[in-house]
Amino acid sequence: MIKRVSYNPKIDTGAVVQQIEPTASLPYFTIEDGSFRYPMNDRTRVYGLGEQVRGINKRGWIYRSYCTDEPFHTEDKSSLYGAHNFILIDDGAVRFGAFFDYPTRITFDIGYTDPAMLTVTPETMELELYIIEGDTPTEIVRRFRSLIGRSYIPPLWAFGYGQSRWGYADRDDIRSVADSYRDAHIPMDMIYLDIDYLDNFKDFTVSPERFDRFPSFVSEMKERGLRLIPIIDAAVKREEGYRVYDEGHARGYFCKGRDGEDYIVGVWPGMSVLPDFLNDDAAAWFGSQYRTLTEMGIEGFWNDMNEPALFYSEQGLKEAFAALHTYEDTELNAFTCFRARETLNRLANSDDDYQSFYHRTPAGSIRHSEVHNLYGYRMTKSAADALKECRPGQRSLLFSRASYIGMHRYAGIWTGDNHSWWSHILLLLRQLPSMNMCGFLYTGCDLGGFNGNCTRDLQLRWMSLGVFTPLMRNHAAAGTRSQEAVAFGDTEAFRHIIELRYRLIPYLYSEYMKATLRDEMLFRPLVFDYPDDSRAVEIEDQLMLGSSLMIAPVYVQNADGRMVYLPEPMTMVRMHEDYISTEELSSGDHYIPVPLGDVVFFIRSGALMPLADAAMTTAEIDLDSIVLLGTGRAYELYADDGISPDISEKNITILRQHDAAPRPAF
Ligand code: NOJ
Repeated sequence: MIKRVSYNPKIDTGAVVQQIEPTASLPYFTIEDGSFRYPMNDRTRVYGLGEQVRGINKRGWIYRSYCTDEPFHTEDKSSLYGAHNFILIDDGAVRFGAFFDYPTRITFDIGYTDPAMLTVTPETMELELYIIEGDTPTEIVRRFRSLIGRSYIPPLWAFGYGQSRWGYADRDDIRSVADSYRDAHIPMDMIYLDIDYLDNFKDFTVSPERFDRFPSFVSEMKERGLRLIPIIDAAVKREEGYRVYDEGHARGYFCKGRDGEDYIVGVWPGMSVLPDFLNDDAAAWFGSQYRTLTEMGIEGFWNDMNEPALFYSEQGLKEAFAALHTYEDTELNAFTCFRARETLNRLANSDDDYQSFYHRTPAGSIRHSEVHNLYGYRMTKSAADALKECRPGQRSLLFSRASYIGMHRYAGIWTGDNHSWWSHILLLLRQLPSMNMCGFLYTGCDLGGFNGNCTRDLQLRWMSLGVFTPLMRNHAAAGTRSQEAVAFGDTEAFRHIIELRYRLIPYLYSEYMKATLRDEMLFRPLVFDYPDDSRAVEIEDQLMLGSSLMIAPVYVQNADGRMVYLPEPMTMVRMHEDYISTEELSSGDHYIPVPLGDVVFFIRSGALMPLADAAMTTAEIDLDSIVLLGTGRAYELYADDGISPDISEKNITILRQHDAAPRPAF
């Protein structure tokens, strides 16, 4: 069922948890000129690749796994922040999954060069290849997920709503965000701290001017039911006298250049060094730094810039300035201008830099470019391992920007710097099932978009999808228009949508936990559930969510509704500002009006979903208020203390239709 073919990998990536004896013969693929090739027929569909651009069916483009700080998530790109090398090939007769466990650049040409050929090309033939067979896509994914191990389990409160913005400058800014939500009666559980809280962008410090007496501020917020979630960046400022730098430098824990000296790169803090997360001692040391903040009452973190993102290196900057000087005596025309611009543009995330520093791994010294895709994974694992020690018996919130398969056991991911574009609602919808296939269940995007200016209608529509994603966070870049739920004047529609999120949490949490325990996907393409339905195959703007729901968000500006395809009869639930209505719909195509502010979703026939009363925080959700919607008889509700790391099927209670509170939901 799972076959492993080993091609002498350089390093154990840590992606896989099951021991599989290697076999000599490689099924399905042929190898030619260093590439794995699989001929596709007209019906072949290819799924997977996790956090990527384009559709759920990946056929027709060339993708590259190479963790990249990519601020434009447009369809001409090939790499985003994650490296998720799992593909699932289905041509009706033949069905299998393939996981290329390889720590650096690998290209998936899925009918781009030759429309009938799938060609996978690693940089070198040093990898483990796992072939996963099964009768259905769902079964293949389940087997793959058991190969790579159980997904990360967040605390219950991490299913609450979180507000974030790069640019909340100080305690007063944070307080006023908290006040504005409270005054508008909008539920919230978390406020995120971006790099603004740091002292000169130094990891594990807090600005003494803007966030003085931080522990008491953390408690003040907690008393209001809010958790503060600070960011941690991968690079450490090079500054003598800064404890973290001094310690890491003295112990040799930073990546070294060819000359054996710390390799100097430029990120937010200016000249910085890169912790060697592939060295176990260095990783454990960096992880132990999180304690500085947990001791101040912090219970969750987001790890950023860990592709690693490099704005420049000291060496690269010197060379660029030298090159610019050479233009001084030449004629200054359009071409010199373009060349000068290009010289500077090439500085960021340059291959030259990735080839110029080294890790001290258990397998010896390895050039960064050969293990690039493991960097963010290992940073986040170092945090997760340490948090287990600092916060024993408790789950922590942790998610990362860069990732590799294997990291899904330790943390979630957010999808990085998207834009306030309508097309990015759809992009998220398509990324969700792909990320789930690769084990990443705790995911979400910057609701409202990170770059660019958001509008009220975009934020409302985006949040109407965000209510269903495990990570529900509104985040934006510095300098963009405010996009908090209270930023657009009238707050009623936002309150209604965020309240709905809290009403859905018993369902979302139950489905999340069951998906984790059973290696299932939370979000599935329709074709996974309705494999014999020829229409379902093509639908990429509706998703199945958990055991009971189908969602079909509106992602077009000025649309008052949309066409929805029902593969079977379903109960349509409409959550309007002051009422909920349900309607039984037959299978087939329906035009569904969805006025701005309404959230509509569908319950499968014979299924139930629990809906609780609204609450201002996750701690206030009352399970006794649950009513069951839908036509089914029983629902498996997962409920526990939301904190302890041991999860078990024993925490599932069967709710039956007649057990539900007698009062109707509407
Ligand atoms: C890049 C991250 O993707 C973004 O979310 C964050 O706001 C900025 N870095 C600043 O820290």
